[in-house]
Amino acid sequence: MRTAVCPGSFDPITNGHLDIIQRAASLFDSVIVLILHNPAKEPCFSLSQRMDFIRKATQDYPQVRVDYYDGLLADYMRKTKANAIIKGLRAMSDFEYEFQMALANKKLYPEAETLFLTTQTENMYVSSSLIRQIGSLHGDISDLIPPVILQEVKQVLNHEED
Ligand code: COA
Repeated sequence: MRTAVCPGSFDPITNGHLDIIQRAASLFDSVIVLILHNPAKEPCFSLSQRMDFIRKATQDYPQVRVDYYDGLLADYMRKTKANAIIKGLRAMSDFEYEFQMALANKKLYPEAETLFLTTQTENMYVSSSLIRQIGSLHGDISDLIPPVILQEVKQVLNHEED
């Protein structure tokens, strides 16, 4: 059983993330989409909202599940005995940071490999903060996030009640 972990803060999940998750699901027996804490960021969406969005976006993929870990990615990999960390590479600007993280994770837990999947060109510029910014200023984010979470994401960003 080969298990891949797709880590991130997913604040919120984007079409770019979903593309990487779907492709990981075609390569591995099971995929864990793992929400972790990025110390450099304060999330906009609550943990339960982010988990719910990922669950809804991946509902057609039975081999994909969602988890949360309050600690190091390397420790989660050790704990679950997952085999690979999957990250999407959007542009050269992602490379230096991702390379550093991959080396640090390898040092902390050598048994796990980090694999990079190149993003699709239409998702090259997509990021969670861009979606938050466009959505909170009432711009069109419908091409950027999974349709199944669009209304809920817009409601939160625009402080609307149900
Ligand atoms: N398509 C579109 N956007 C993508 C993407 C893709 N395929 N992959 C990443 N992004 C976006 C993310 O949404 C994020 O956007 P934002 O900066 O606007 O929020 C941005 O690109 C950066 O993504 P990433 O580098 O994956 O950062 P992250 O905050 O989502 O995740 C953690 C970083 C949580 C994985 C990392 O901080 C971590 O591992 N934390 C746990 C502690 C730990 O182990 N630290 C490492 C020690 S070596």
